[in-house]
Amino acid sequence: MSNAELWQGIGAFLEQAGGAPGLNEVRARLHDVGDLAVAIAQRPPNQPLCGYLSEALSVAHAGPGAALAALIGRSNLHWESYGAYAPGTIGTAFPRRHAYASLIADADPNWHRDVDLGFLLIAPHTLYRDHHHPARELYLPLTGPSYWRFGVDSKWQEKAAGAVIWNEPNRVHATLVQDVPLLCLYAWTENVLAPAVVDVASDWTSLESQLASR
Ligand SMILES: [Fe+2]
Repeated sequence: MSNAELWQGIGAFLEQAGGAPGLNEVRARLHDVGDLAVAIAQRPPNQPLCGYLSEALSVAHAGPGAALAALIGRSNLHWESYGAYAPGTIGTAFPRRHAYASLIADADPNWHRDVDLGFLLIAPHTLYRDHHHPARELYLPLTGPSYWRFGVDSKWQEKAAGAVIWNEPNRVHATLVQDVPLLCLYAWTENVLAPAVVDVASDWTSLESQLASR
């Protein structure tokens, strides 16, 4: 299947998400880099090391991202682990319990367009610790529920498939994935080379030991 077909499916999923904050910015950036959709992949397709892609797609097939999930299932994506965190800050579990597939990394390898877009997958029973980054960021979950907080001491909010999560620059956020693997469309609209930084919260140890015992 062509990248262009996947790109169209992403555009349709963004349209379906309506007019929540951030969506117009992401649509505009997608329009700016639409020519990249025809780029030929350089890196070999692989399976995410964290597993759970087929499980996540099964869940997504029953939700508002069903059409996009079908396209993802037929795509040859290159999955990798985000490695820009300072050593030791993100925890030992997260690096092997998530994967992301950028659609831009091959098409604009030097990041001249300063935009990133792709898919993020997080295995069940995983905490993505609190962090922030200068990039404005959109997440559109295709699966759910997942749990999000925006500030180290703030309450967890449940987000269903189809929810819109829009993070302004440097907004602190964390994600808690319980029984259902989380598959999201993600977009960073600028500052994509500025690394994310972890924000220390006091409850990581208890949360992660609860998750590890599940
Ligand atoms: Fe983020």
